[in-house]
Amino acid sequence: MPQNPPIKPFMEVLSGRRQAVPPIWMMRQAGRYLPEYRELRAKAGGFLDLCFTPEYAAEITLQPIRRFNFDAAIIFSDILVIPHALGRAVRFEAGEGPRLDPLDTAAKVSTLAADADFGKLEPVYEALRRVRRELDSTIALIGFCGAPWTVATYMVAGQGTPDQAPARMMAYREPDAFARIIDTLVENSIQYLLGQLKAGADALQIFDTWAGVLPPREFQRWSIEPTRRIVEGVRRQVPGARIIGFPRGAAAQLPAYIEATGVDAVSIDWAAEPSFIRERVQNRVAVQGNLDPLALIAGGDALDRSIDDVLANYAGGRLIFNLGHGIQQETPIAHVEQMLKRVRAYKG
Ligand code: CP3
Repeated sequence: MPQNPPIKPFMEVLSGRRQAVPPIWMMRQAGRYLPEYRELRAKAGGFLDLCFTPEYAAEITLQPIRRFNFDAAIIFSDILVIPHALGRAVRFEAGEGPRLDPLDTAAKVSTLAADADFGKLEPVYEALRRVRRELDSTIALIGFCGAPWTVATYMVAGQGTPDQAPARMMAYREPDAFARIIDTLVENSIQYLLGQLKAGADALQIFDTWAGVLPPREFQRWSIEPTRRIVEGVRRQVPGARIIGFPRGAAAQLPAYIEATGVDAVSIDWAAEPSFIRERVQNRVAVQGNLDPLALIAGGDALDRSIDDVLANYAGGRLIFNLGHGIQQETPIAHVEQMLKRVRAYKG
């Protein structure tokens, strides 16, 4: 008798089928709150060395799965590997976040390579293949990239800034040069995501961490439109590709974002208004989110109440339980365990 292929609850939700117990994973689930991550990080030297050593990247991807048995693993890498492969210098300095050579004039932009050196990203694909081989068949593997807007904010400023003013300013003052950065990121992100699917990713997430700083007209041009082109470009080669969008801080614009981009799900941050999300977003696509990462640090009753709110707000529909943004370093592991236990005990 042929056996039915094992079901991945995470993929079921992305395919439109609500699960009685929502599948769960956490953004930044592989990272500094885990002692086993910190140990390997110290051994590897630089952060990019971790990302580009398949053995390490695969191991770190699997660490949170072994510990918590999440429903999805996300490949350990970073959104800034694309600028790196485009030949921009990218450094991660301890405790300071990323540093790049600023790409902040039209003259500099005219020297930007059109095509990434995908050979530099081969270790990411190899890490995906390794994880795929080791991952339980009920657990999904997520590939990702940054949305062009968010990646561009780091490329232009050369670092993170409180409101990404350098990129916003360049988009107003030098729209043609800025559009060239965005177009370059669109084309190369499509190839990168296709490479990740080929290497074994089940689904893709597009992180637009800085979407929320844009006024609606700029959001349309620099966030929605490039994301739409990426989704279209990926699906031209892989028609059924499942894609999650995360335009952080842009909840009011989600109906337009969903309509234009065609994503299968959106990740929402913790400030989203529940009835608006249910009626204008979750009726169309799956929702992923949206526990406040600070509630996860706080623990105790505050954590239980916050988890129950997410479940009460969204578990009646298609929900992938997650945080509203990445888990923070100081989060106690016991609180992650408390969250998992409570979500998996949900009877809905
Ligand atoms: O989610 C995961 O576990 C997969 C790995 C992952 C990382 N970065 C590893 C990482 C993912 C999906 C990202 C995405 C990412 N990277 C985003 C979008 C999502 C988000 O959280 O907003 C952004 C904006 C970046 C750029 C970036 N990388 C910043 C701003 C920083 C410094 C801030 C920080 O948290 O340290 C990084 C470094 C980084 N990326 C670390 C990790 C585990 C920390 C590196 C270290 O060990 O010092």
